[in-house]
Amino acid sequence: MKVLGVCGSHREESNTNKLVKKVAEASGCDFELIYLGKLDIKPCTGCGVCMMNEGQCPIQDDMQQVYEKLLQADSLIIGGPTYFFDLNGSTKDFIDRTMAIFYRSQGPAYHPDMPWLGDRPHAGKPAVIITTVAGSGHQRTIETLKYAFDDCSKMKIVAQLAEVVGMNDIDDMPEVLKRAEEAGEKLGAALKA
Ligand SMILES: Cc1cc2nc3c(=O)[nH]c(=O)nc-3n(C[C@H](O)[C@H](O)[C@H](O)COP(=O)(O)O)c2cc1C
Repeated sequence: MKVLGVCGSHREESNTNKLVKKVAEASGCDFELIYLGKLDIKPCTGCGVCMMNEGQCPIQDDMQQVYEKLLQADSLIIGGPTYFFDLNGSTKDFIDRTMAIFYRSQGPAYHPDMPWLGDRPHAGKPAVIITTVAGSGHQRTIETLKYAFDDCSKMKIVAQLAEVVGMNDIDDMPEVLKRAEEAGEKLGAALKA
């Protein structure tokens, strides 16, 4: 059972990234973490080539190796900090680029009457979505993540963390770490069910 954790903050000692790791560890499953801040992932240009070319994105950057990891994952943990009352740009750019995997002929069709929307390789697979925020705006970030991974990718979101952290480090917030552990345990249980 392979869990892929996407750490969407570029900040050293990021609270969001720490929570992604914590959830992955608590799942009790094999996991791999990718740090968007260490990867070269350019924005989607909307060229549409992936839709016509079996899911092959023409942008030659680190997303090419991430596509393979995504397709091998049994579940996803996606974490992005809240910037300006929504998901931060890097994590959104990453999500936009995932559209290519809808055209690899893997998984069920999004809708049989709308073949141009492609397939959903992660349909039914469990996911955990995570954001942190200093004060407010996290509800909208969670909405954005839900639209992407529930409505669009048809994953089953088994837990969500939207943690208001102020200027603190989550290592000093035991109640937050406990919620992350519980989320990881739920993910592990869903994977083993
Ligand atoms: C560009 C930017 C925009 C931000 N926007 C908000 C915001 O809208 N609301 C808020 O409460 N905090 C905001 N913050 C604070 C972050 O949400 C907060 O520090 C978050 O925990 C950072 O996550 P990280 O530790 O994973 O990097 C913003 C921070 C930055 C750098």
